[in-house]
Amino acid sequence: MVNVEVTRRAAHLRKQIVEYDYWYYVKDSPRIPDAEYDKLFRELQTLEAQHPELLTADSPTQRVGGKVLDGFTPVRHAVPMLSIRTETDISDQGAIAFDARVRKELGLGESDPPVKYVCELKFDGLAINLRYEQGVLVQAATRGDGETGEDVTQNVRTIHQIPLSLDGGCPSVLEVRGEVYMARPDFERYNERQREQGLPTLVNPRNGAAGSIRQLDPALAARRRLKFFAYGLGEKVEGWGWRETHKEVLNQLEAWGFPVNSENRVVLGAQGLVEFHRHIEAMRDQLPFDIDGVVYKVNSIALQEKLGFVSREPRWAVAHKFPAEEQITVVRDIDIQVGRTGKLTPVAKLEPVFVGGVTVTNATLHNEDETRRKDVRIGDTVIVRRAGDVIPEVVGVVLEKRPSDAGEQFDLFKRLSGKCPVCGSRIVREEGEANWRCTGGLFCPAQRKEALLHFASRRAMNIEGLGDKLVEQLVEQRLVHTPADLYRLDLTTLADLERMGEKSANNLLEAIAHSKHTTLARFIYALGIRNVGETTAKDFARHFGSLDNLIAADEARQQQVPDVGPVVAKSITAFLAEPHNIEVIAQLRASGLSWAEHEGERVETLPLSGKTFVLTGTLPSMSRDEAKEKLEALGAKVAGSVSKKTDYVVAGAEAGSKLDKARELNVTVLDEQQFLALMEIK
Ligand code: IVH
Repeated sequence: MVNVEVTRRAAHLRKQIVEYDYWYYVKDSPRIPDAEYDKLFRELQTLEAQHPELLTADSPTQRVGGKVLDGFTPVRHAVPMLSIRTETDISDQGAIAFDARVRKELGLGESDPPVKYVCELKFDGLAINLRYEQGVLVQAATRGDGETGEDVTQNVRTIHQIPLSLDGGCPSVLEVRGEVYMARPDFERYNERQREQGLPTLVNPRNGAAGSIRQLDPALAARRRLKFFAYGLGEKVEGWGWRETHKEVLNQLEAWGFPVNSENRVVLGAQGLVEFHRHIEAMRDQLPFDIDGVVYKVNSIALQEKLGFVSREPRWAVAHKFPAEEQITVVRDIDIQVGRTGKLTPVAKLEPVFVGGVTVTNATLHNEDETRRKDVRIGDTVIVRRAGDVIPEVVGVVLEKRPSDAGEQFDLFKRLSGKCPVCGSRIVREEGEANWRCTGGLFCPAQRKEALLHFASRRAMNIEGLGDKLVEQLVEQRLVHTPADLYRLDLTTLADLERMGEKSANNLLEAIAHSKHTTLARFIYALGIRNVGETTAKDFARHFGSLDNLIAADEARQQQVPDVGPVVAKSITAFLAEPHNIEVIAQLRASGLSWAEHEGERVETLPLSGKTFVLTGTLPSMSRDEAKEKLEALGAKVAGSVSKKTDYVVAGAEAGSKLDKARELNVTVLDEQQFLALMEIK
């Protein structure tokens, strides 16, 4: 027997979690910290595990998991899922023609008032019917052929925006219709992760949504964050007053807790439709999801009934398209671009094509693996996609159209003969890495601005005043090519630059001169070697004591440095093996840079040497950077995450998961007072 208190607690937790879910997933406005939410969720899971009889179909814990299916069961729709007529004339004429047809069917003359319409977005996802009985979600089905779809309830349950139950005041049977979609940022993130791991990517968000809804393993479906917009009703049975307009239906859907897109508008006549179409087309790129047009619906339900249907399409609705976001064109060439950080990206040079509202001549192929997986060759006919303000990409090849003289399979190293197309330095592709990179970080013109900004940054050489705009000018005017050139700048040259003047020029020269006296760690970090962050640079400085020792060390010796593995060792070896970099380092040393070479020995005697700290939360009396600086000045190491090797965690206000981890691992936790006291003593 489950006692009353436990039953009540479970019901209370469910109610709270459903409420928090709504604010988080539908309203996009969290009401409690994640950690608190997790606690409630775990408590409910535990209660349900201990007392299985407490489990309800609409419990929020039921969104995850579920068994792997053998297939999908067919579902016959109680009310057929119709499609809408599509107006492919993307000009204003599409809207004008629809309004004219509606008026004619309704027998309206020129002197009659304009018809009221609801305008909505046409979401580019997958249509779904959600069936609620006594307010509980019992079935979700795809559209199928409109008469019969497939039961995809398990997968749809994983979509957090879809309520598993509705608050009182809904019909005993209620069907809600809408679109399941994948938001563009979620789609990009998913593909980025797949790419990093060398796995296949999704062609577009629509395929992403359709693919995961048709996944037999709900756990896989849950991995792709799908979303939902409600836009209409299917079957509805008693217990609910009839609504007179479609707008009222949308409002009611929202009141039940469904996400209803806020861009819908009630407008008057053809003019209203045209304005909506233009307005949405102008903002299309800024929307976080794909749409392929807008939908116009006659607002009055009575008029909708009067208009009826023709060949399974309502006469009261139409879809008015926008320019397509995918088009077919031909690859003329494949270029390789060097990014600001040295990443080499293959780019298809295209026969110009109008796609997603602009003319496109270049499309990214992302990296070598993806180019090969899609097997894109020069001369191929390809599908190009441009959606939102994302860079256009090649999503696939139309193999049937491959000409007999198409290029050979893409091979980036061979194409470039192993050399950066911009600076001629060696290119490398590290194990487990998806991208080839130029190793000439200090020398390569493509990486120049980035390298200079990093070199001058506060945690590196700390050259105050050398920001974005100035670096831009210095590079564009060919005054600075490598960081070493900074030390050759003179007053007249600097004072002549835009927005400079003598005073600022003097200040900058002073800052540059000041940076000559630095530490070995800062200098190593300033070189901008891939995978060598501030902490690793400090470890290297401490271990090797001098730059020459570091340069002389092989990969094996480098790996003797605590926390340095093969990835870091490979990066640093590749960097130092590039003669262009060594040359710049030599020039830097020649310009009078100096540092405490034997910092290592000095550090060992400091009071907090050998101790590792992790900072979390906010300290009222100092910033995290200040705290870090203070600790390091005392010889401590400050790490980013808590592990068994952590000696102290300093927890300020609103400390999160790091604090939990510290408790879990029994690491000493200091509050601000204790932390200050410790610094005082030392
Ligand atoms: S209403 C009777 N509204 O477009 C009208 N459909 O052919 C039924 N769609 O795949 C549809 N956005 O999933 C409607 N705001 C919207 C829509 C929309 C996208 C899709 C729908 C179906 C197709 C209709």
